Amino acid sequence: GGPEPQTLLLLGASGDLAERLLLPGLGRLVATGAQPGLALIGSGRADWDDERWRRHVAESFATVGADGPRETELVRATRYLRADVTADEDLRRLLAACQGQLVIYFALPPVITARAAAALARIGLPPGTRLMLEKPFGTDAESARSLNELLAGLVPEDQVHRIDHFLGKSTVVNILGLRFANRIFEPVLNAAHVACVDIVFDEALGLEGRAGYYDGAGTLVDMVQSHLLQVLALMAMDAPPSLHARELRGRKAQVLRATRVWDGDPVRWSRHARYTAGEVNGRRLPAYADEPGVDPARGTETLAEVVLAVDTWRWAGVPFRLRSGKALAGRRKEAVVTFRQPPRVPTGLSGHEQPDRLRIGFGPDQLGLDININGPGEPLELDQVQLVTHFGPGDLPPYGEVLRGALDGDPMLSVRGDTAEECWRIVEPVLEAWRAGAVPLQEYPAGSRGPADSLLAPAPGEGGLH
Ligand code: BG6
Repeated sequence: GGPEPQTLLLLGASGDLAERLLLPGLGRLVATGAQPGLALIGSGRADWDDERWRRHVAESFATVGADGPRETELVRATRYLRADVTADEDLRRLLAACQGQLVIYFALPPVITARAAAALARIGLPPGTRLMLEKPFGTDAESARSLNELLAGLVPEDQVHRIDHFLGKSTVVNILGLRFANRIFEPVLNAAHVACVDIVFDEALGLEGRAGYYDGAGTLVDMVQSHLLQVLALMAMDAPPSLHARELRGRKAQVLRATRVWDGDPVRWSRHARYTAGEVNGRRLPAYADEPGVDPARGTETLAEVVLAVDTWRWAGVPFRLRSGKALAGRRKEAVVTFRQPPRVPTGLSGHEQPDRLRIGFGPDQLGLDININGPGEPLELDQVQLVTHFGPGDLPPYGEVLRGALDGDPMLSVRGDTAEECWRIVEPVLEAWRAGAVPLQEYPAGSRGPADSLLAPAPGEGGLH
């Protein structure tokens, strides 16, 4: 009797990611009652004891209202073990403390993750162990490949969960429902009808004290190589016959293998920039280069744009324009399909300027369709209207969703190893062009809309979902 015991071993437990995202996600997941046999063990570098850790977990849970009996029970039983996760002896001690089916979450920088995985390869893992790895997965295609090799020696690929929390966002998952459970969109989502696809994630947030990680990554790696390419894959892939991990991830991999920088020319088709001092939503931000912990000479970007081609029969000739930036005024977070103009608008209907657009908003979560109709007023004058449906965020925050996938042993919402390498392959020519100084690093004031010569220059009247 009783639920099957399972242990989530959280490496990097005293870190920022655990506090801000993993623990709140876990708290909400446990509150649903879906993981009755679950125990949590935290391990980190901080010199904490069980009591300190329990308070930490309880406080993180409380930020999302996860303080019911199930969550309290998990907190009461959780333990903290201080450890150097790159040392064999320490890892042996950690594994010995875990019971039942084991899930190890590496909430660690890539270099430490690689060293911890190498140590685990030396000491061996209990059969059936699942691994969860935080992004970025490696630091380039080469390191991703060697990390994949290491992991392949540890557990089968289906037990490796490379986390991209965008795949746990309800609107991102909803791309599947929208595209494949409706008759009306799929037949027009191709080069015959689509002019371009934009995937944009503009944030008001600045660096928020994350220089240690961010200054070594930059927006292209932080957002484009990971989250935005996952969205592109879901937008551009062919219909999978089922949502089995093998089918869905196979479709995504296929379309990413066909994706490359437009014209093979990263100098022409990319932009990078960083913010100078300014004010965002009434909040004063220092210049990125003046943030504590930033090395201005590194030239790390806080805004990246790249235009990609998806060289398949369906999408040949359609630019996919990806952009993300920090400290921006307009908070556009959406994927937008812009359709071609109709072949002909009858003479006599006036005012047709805007193409139709399908919009998928990633925060706020909404779907929109911009269409032209004979609006009120002049009967033969066209107006563009937006049909919009809002839906609240899902019951589980994205990290709760991806944790559920791993604890249930379903890798559907995680990134397959070959795909992680493919995503590096796509952005690498851009990184190289930037490193070589072939694309000047621009500046934009915090609180502005970014550099003026954007590759996604907004069409007149283009304001995003509102
Ligand atoms: C993270 C990035 O993965 O995603 C952050 O590291 C970014 O820089 C964040 O702000 C955006 O996602 P969300 O879901 O928090 O809006």
